[in-house]
Amino acid sequence: MPPCLAVGNWKMNTGVAEAVALASSIRNGLESPAPRGVETVICPPFISLAPVMDAISGSPIKLGAQNAYSRPSGAFTGEISPQMLADFCQYVILGHSERRHVMGEDEGLIAEKTVAAVAAGLQPILCVGETLEERQRGDAGAVTRRQIRTALAGVPTAGGLVIAYEPVWAIGTGVPATPAAVVDITAGAIREELADRYGETASSQVPVLYGGSVNPQNVADFLREPSIQGALVGGASLNAGQFIQIVRLTAEIKGPA
Ligand code: PGA
Repeated sequence: MPPCLAVGNWKMNTGVAEAVALASSIRNGLESPAPRGVETVICPPFISLAPVMDAISGSPIKLGAQNAYSRPSGAFTGEISPQMLADFCQYVILGHSERRHVMGEDEGLIAEKTVAAVAAGLQPILCVGETLEERQRGDAGAVTRRQIRTALAGVPTAGGLVIAYEPVWAIGTGVPATPAAVVDITAGAIREELADRYGETASSQVPVLYGGSVNPQNVADFLREPSIQGALVGGASLNAGQFIQIVRLTAEIKGPA
């Protein structure tokens, strides 16, 4: 069975003091009883990685970054390399739809970043998913497969990869995709593309998460699906109580019996 994850993507929210307070609340709320069988990952803004690392030190909570550049160092004003992040983080979110559609990152750059992240020893949480227009054209599966194929073209093995299926139209809207629509992609297009690339055995160990308006009320509907190993949570991860509930539900549904 692939590992299960609950990932909080804080996006461009929380100042440093607020980030430390949020991380501490999550840490305290997960202390006892500690949820079993779920990896809890929080992804604060870059400037809060170091203080949040201190705030969660000694706890099982892992840190992720929300982005990384494709080069190890050099004249790339404003960028942060995966090598720099490797001192703090185990994970890095790449290919998020806000990077693709708001910042204009193309699939070539996302592929370079993915290779660089793996080379630096980080686990990429690769986000894929179609726009509403692509879905309405009937292209959701094809777009998702292409995004995975392109991003992973230079990544020779599946070990350490995490895929997050985040249909663009479900992110931040309060209206999640239906579990049936998600499973169609997570059990179909995503698993098929991974299996074509890495073979059945290796690809079956890659966790596939759902993201898009996940909250404590709807997360169980996704977690009950065998093709979904957890959630990538935006808005609800900024509320310690809600995120803790999501982590606990993930452990309950996906963790050891
Ligand atoms: P949301 O964001 O939970 O606020 O929809 C999810 C994401 O963008 O990762």
